[in-house]
Amino acid sequence: RLRAPAIGRERAMSQAVDAGDDAGRTFAEVRRPTVRARHLPGYIYTSAEIYRREKEEIFLKDWLCIAREEELAAPGDYMALRILEEPVLLTRNRAGELGAYANVCRHRGVEVAAGIGNAEGFRCPYHGWRYDLDGRLVGAPYMRAGAFDPASCRLDPLRLDRWAGWVFVNFDAGAAPLADYVAAFDKDFGWLGQADCRLAEKHEMVFDCNWKLIVENLLDFYHVAALHQDTIGQGFDVTRMPLNNRADGRFSSFFERESPMPGGKPLLDPLPALAGGSEKLNSVGFLPPNFNVIFRPDYVRPFVIWPLAPDRCRLVAYPLFAREALDRPGFAAAARAYRELHEATLVEDLEMVKSLQNACDSRNFVPGRMSKVEAAVHNTLIWYLDRMFGPGG
Ligand code: FES
Repeated sequence: RLRAPAIGRERAMSQAVDAGDDAGRTFAEVRRPTVRARHLPGYIYTSAEIYRREKEEIFLKDWLCIAREEELAAPGDYMALRILEEPVLLTRNRAGELGAYANVCRHRGVEVAAGIGNAEGFRCPYHGWRYDLDGRLVGAPYMRAGAFDPASCRLDPLRLDRWAGWVFVNFDAGAAPLADYVAAFDKDFGWLGQADCRLAEKHEMVFDCNWKLIVENLLDFYHVAALHQDTIGQGFDVTRMPLNNRADGRFSSFFERESPMPGGKPLLDPLPALAGGSEKLNSVGFLPPNFNVIFRPDYVRPFVIWPLAPDRCRLVAYPLFAREALDRPGFAAAARAYRELHEATLVEDLEMVKSLQNACDSRNFVPGRMSKVEAAVHNTLIWYLDRMFGPGG
């Protein structure tokens, strides 16, 4: 386990922030009870060294949600993506099994596949080595002379598992099973039946801020009534949200409020798991490091947040609806209205998180105290400190 950072300018900033408390050796002020706690110092959101540690300590160890199963529905379907610069290839083979591989050619490392599509196999664009859907090398031009054996060579497999219709991967061969990782989250959200939902149009947004500022923003219910008064914040009363902080950064909240859509009613039939229930049920949940879920009676909208650089990240939204709803008249208009609502809300956040990021580099920024209604953000910060610096860090 790493201890609190001792890295030049950043350590000096930490000392300045914590002066009089613990001289920057720990994050004791962040770990206090919420109403006495402070937010994290700015360098945690700007430092390249911290970003590198996050990759090693969090993203290369945790289960990461990277796709919906339905995005790779047919044999031959594939998806190539990068997770913090690590190229990953997801495939569904001829037998219908999903697989995840390092998308790194075993010759010189070029990505053997790009984008999404359907293929019989993959041909590295650089020198033409060929791989099948299980990552096996099945052809390597002009390689026979040196007693090279293609059978000994393949794309490195990554661990892959599924939960509730989602595909997760893990770079750590020694990590506990996904079922253990999601157990507490599954108690809160497993009943929702996401596996039976269907994905409408996935959409993405890039933010000029550190990934943690988006994770926090989606758990920051303090700002909703103020910033989002023209979108989702009308009539929102943060004190009516129970904040169920779980161990290890997991979080859930279930509460009632009217739909923010005109008329105050859901636009579509309820999800099967919510049929017959309250039209006002709302929920928010978080599974570290980067999976946020909200649902209302007629849809689930998970967000996955990916770091791109210390000061850039990408949010991917997965609007899920009841399978039957997609074929109903009026579905496209309803889905578009929900998307526009969420995008308008995120656009309102865009300038805020950019300003937060800028503040993290300001000589005048000192992290301030928290309100009790920031308890979900606080829970996430403590999870983060535990993972990055150990329980005493
Ligand atoms: Fe892939 Fe050379 S880098 S074939």
